[in-house]
Amino acid sequence: MQLTSTAMAAGLAFLSFFLLMLLPSSTEAHNITKILAEFPEFSTFNHYLSKTHLADEINSRETITVCAVDNAGMADLLSKNLSIYALKNVLSFHVLLDYFGAKKLHQITNGTALAATMFQATGRAPGSSGFVNITDLKGGKVGFSAVDNGGIEATFDKSLKEIPYNISVIQISKILSSPDAEAPTPGPSQMNITGIMSAHGCKVFAETLLASPAQKTFDDNLDGGLTIFCPGDDAMKNFLPKFKNLTVDGKQAVLEYHGVPIYQSFSMLKSNNGPINTLATDGANKYDFVIQNDGPEVTLKTKIVTAKITSTLIDEQPLAIFALDKVLMPKELFKAALAPTPAPAPAPAADAPKPSKHHKSPPAPPSADSPADGPGTDSADQTADSNGAGRFNGERFVSVCLSLLFAAILLL
Ligand SMILES: *[C@@H]1O[C@H](CO)[C@@H](O)[C@H](O)[C@H]1NC(C)=O
Ligand SMILES: *[C@@H]1O[C@H](CO)[C@@H](O)[C@H](O)[C@H]1NC(C)=O
Ligand SMILES: *[C@@H]1O[C@H](CO)[C@@H](O)[C@H](O)[C@H]1NC(C)=O
Ligand SMILES: *[C@@H]1O[C@H](CO)[C@@H](O)[C@H](O)[C@H]1NC(C)=O
Ligand SMILES: *[C@@H]1O[C@H](CO)[C@@H](O)[C@H](O)[C@H]1NC(C)=O
Ligand SMILES: *[C@@H]1O[C@H](CO)[C@@H](O)[C@H](O)[C@H]1NC(C)=O
Ligand SMILES: *[C@@H]1O[C@H](CO)[C@@H](O)[C@H](O)[C@H]1NC(C)=O
Repeated sequence: MQLTSTAMAAGLAFLSFFLLMLLPSSTEAHNITKILAEFPEFSTFNHYLSKTHLADEINSRETITVCAVDNAGMADLLSKNLSIYALKNVLSFHVLLDYFGAKKLHQITNGTALAATMFQATGRAPGSSGFVNITDLKGGKVGFSAVDNGGIEATFDKSLKEIPYNISVIQISKILSSPDAEAPTPGPSQMNITGIMSAHGCKVFAETLLASPAQKTFDDNLDGGLTIFCPGDDAMKNFLPKFKNLTVDGKQAVLEYHGVPIYQSFSMLKSNNGPINTLATDGANKYDFVIQNDGPEVTLKTKIVTAKITSTLIDEQPLAIFALDKVLMPKELFKAALAPTPAPAPAPAADAPKPSKHHKSPPAPPSADSPADGPGTDSADQTADSNGAGRFNGERFVSVCLSLLFAAILLL
């Protein structure tokens, strides 16, 4: 009796551990680039989905329909010589935010349906111009048109790939015309990044940036791709006393530390864990931080703080701006805030809340700055502690599972 229940517990524990290990690989449900790569006649469409980074946005969504046109149809579109930003709008008008497989297209209730598109989701489509009208026609045909245009612009040709109800990729006969999607879209260098931040809860950071030479560094990187992590107003206000204490160079560096000189959409951040360089990186002065997923969230870890992304202000190739709950403090400037990290102690006692935030600690070992979430500053402590506790319990769970399994093996 004793033996079987122990073995069963161990088995169950091992199974749950095993399932936990499997979870991360199932997050990426589909890959539109890969799906279309099987169809050479859609290579132009596929190329521009990647070039505009729409592919990433499509992959990150569930329940979606991509209306592809063949290379001849794309040649018509490209002859209009649209900017890459307008081209992205036009292609996003061909991505429906609902699942339409061949069967559903031929069974549309009352013969007609309106589908919201990814262009509608950008918020730049005035009125109903971001909707596509799908009509079930006689003779087994299905018509597509921009709602504003009326009539039938294109017809359903065939289904290329259906993964119900995640993604459907269908061929339609030609590009749907949409004057609003084709309208000139401001290029990135005309974008007012401090204006965007000010309007979305990062006013203090924006104003601090405007008063610094760091602003030019950000602007200079706009065209080539830029990702900005701006601390929210509360976080930035709390940080200002520390900021004022920095040297002129230090002030510029900490601001530039919040910019990354490549475009990273939220889904790219989610799939790229690891260290990343910043606008402040300069040879030996690494000024990097670590991007790490935490469930559905994305966290940024410096040796001093762990911040998390709280919202997306803009995410359009080549510019992404995300708001953070904390100011990123680089170890290059805030080493003093680093306290030595206690050696990993497996006893639950080590998990107890830290009594004092600025306790004078025993002499630091030489490698004091290796673990990312050691006791740090006021703002760092909260997240570091709760994260630490979460991870510790996870480790304990795994080690309990393993020892149970080991015990079971010994008993057998
Ligand atoms: C659809 O997507 C969900 C969530 O990503 C996934 O769990 C499921 O396996 C997918 N279905 C198919 C048939 O791929
Ligand atoms: C999607 O597939 C393409 C081509 O097979 C591959 O290069 C790319 O890395 C894949 N993307 C993801 C996010 O898996
Ligand atoms: C296409 O547009 C670019 C920039 O908008 C312009 O320089 C070029 O002359 C245009 N080409 C044609 C064929 O219209
Ligand atoms: C379909 O048409 C009927 C009768 O005209 C109407 O009562 C019903 O609400 C319509 N359904 C949809 C989904 O539009
Ligand atoms: C959708 O298209 C059909 C066929 O052209 C038309 O009868 C219907 O009124 C259109 N619906 C909307 C909302 O434009
Ligand atoms: C950017 O936006 C800010 C705040 O809305 C405004 O004060 C500033 O004049 C704008 N800059 C430009 C170049 O338009
Ligand atoms: C500013 O620097 C001084 C001297 O290094 C230090 O005593 C003080 O605590 C610092 N203030 C803040 C807010 O970091």
